[in-house]
Amino acid sequence: MSRVFSGIQPSGELHIGNYLGAVKNWVELQDSHECFICIVDYHAITQAYEVGTLQRRTLEMAMGLLAAGIDPGKCVLFVQSHVVEHTELAWVFTTVTPIGELERMTQFKDKSRRQESVLAGLLNYPVLQAADVLLYKADLVPVGEDQVQHVELMREVARKWNAKYHAGYFPEPQADIGKAKRIQGLDGRGKMSKSLGNTIGILDEPDQIWERIRPAKTDPARVRRTDPGTPEICNMYALHQHFSSPPVVQEVAEKCRTAGWGCIECKRVLADNIAEAFAPMRQRAKELAEAPERVGQILAEGAEKARVVARETMAGVRAHMGLLPVALREPAER
Ligand code: AMP
Ligand code: TRP
Repeated sequence: MSRVFSGIQPSGELHIGNYLGAVKNWVELQDSHECFICIVDYHAITQAYEVGTLQRRTLEMAMGLLAAGIDPGKCVLFVQSHVVEHTELAWVFTTVTPIGELERMTQFKDKSRRQESVLAGLLNYPVLQAADVLLYKADLVPVGEDQVQHVELMREVARKWNAKYHAGYFPEPQADIGKAKRIQGLDGRGKMSKSLGNTIGILDEPDQIWERIRPAKTDPARVRRTDPGTPEICNMYALHQHFSSPPVVQEVAEKCRTAGWGCIECKRVLADNIAEAFAPMRQRAKELAEAPERVGQILAEGAEKARVVARETMAGVRAHMGLLPVALREPAER
C-alpha cells in the first residue's frame, strides 16, 4: 500500500479552492491509503504573518479539516512544528539541493517579489516540503496544480540524497492532482487564496456564501441582463460544475448563452448549492467547537504517531551519512 503525505498552511480558513483542489482528495484517499496530513506552520512563517493569531489559525485549520471529513481514526493529522525531525531533515536536504533549482521555483519568484529582502527561509521552502514528505517515505502527494513543481523538486532531492548516501532509501514521490486543478478566486484575478481575500470558506453560513457570491466577477460581456454570455469563460459556471447536478449545469449554460437568466439568478442557484454541499461540514464544525480540547488531543496523538516514523527515518539518515550516534539514544541502529 502506498503512503500518502500532504500539507496545508494554517491560514485558519479552509476555502473551496484548497478543499476542491486537495482536501476532498485526502478524505477519499484515507480509506485506501496510509495517510499523513500535516498543518505546516513552519512553512507559514516564511512570509510576514500575525504572531498573535497563529495558534488560533492552526487550531481552526485542524477543526476545518476534521469537519471536512479527515478522520483521525484512519489518518495521522498533526502539526509540523510538533515533530522536530521535519526541520532536521530539511537541514540535511539543504546539503544536496542546488540553489539554482530553488531560484527557479515559480512560487519563490512570485513571493520573493513581495519580500523587501529575500530571506533564506523562503528560498528553502521547497526543501522543507521535501523533508515533510520524505520523512515518511511517502510516495503519493495529493495537491493542487500549483504544487507540482515542488513535488518535482522533492523527487530530485530524493534522487540526489540516494545517489550520494544510500541507493533506494527514499522513494521518488508522485504528485496526485485532483479534478479541480485550480479554483479561480471570486474577483476573477487569479487563484482562490485566503491572502487575496477572494474566497468562500467551507464553513461559511449560507448568508455569508451569498454575500461573497453576489458581487463576484462574471463574464464581462454581460453588462445588461439582456446581454448574452459565454459560460466557458465565467467562473460562476466553473463553480456550478463542482456544485450543481449535470442537468442544472446544462441549464446554466443555456440560460447564460441566451440571456434567459441574469447573472444574479445564476448566482442564487450556485450559492444555494454550495451552502447545501457543506451543510454536513458546518454541523460537524459546530460539534467540534463545543469540544475544543478534543482537537488539541487529536493533534497531540497525531504528532505521537508521526514521530515514530520520523525518528526511524532520521536514524537511518544519520547512519548512512556517517554521523556519530548518541550511544544511549539509538544503540541498535548503528
Ligand atoms: P494552501 O491552502 O495554499 O496551503 O494549499 C493547500 C492545498 O490546496 C495545496 O495542495 C494547494 O495546491 C491546494 N490549493 C490551494 N488553493 C487552491 C486553488 N485555488 N485551487 C486548487 N487548489 C488549491
Ligand atoms: N506548500 C504547500 C502549499 O502551500 C503546503 C505543503 C507543505 C505541502 N508541505 C507539504 C503539500 C508537503 C504537500 C506535501 O500548498
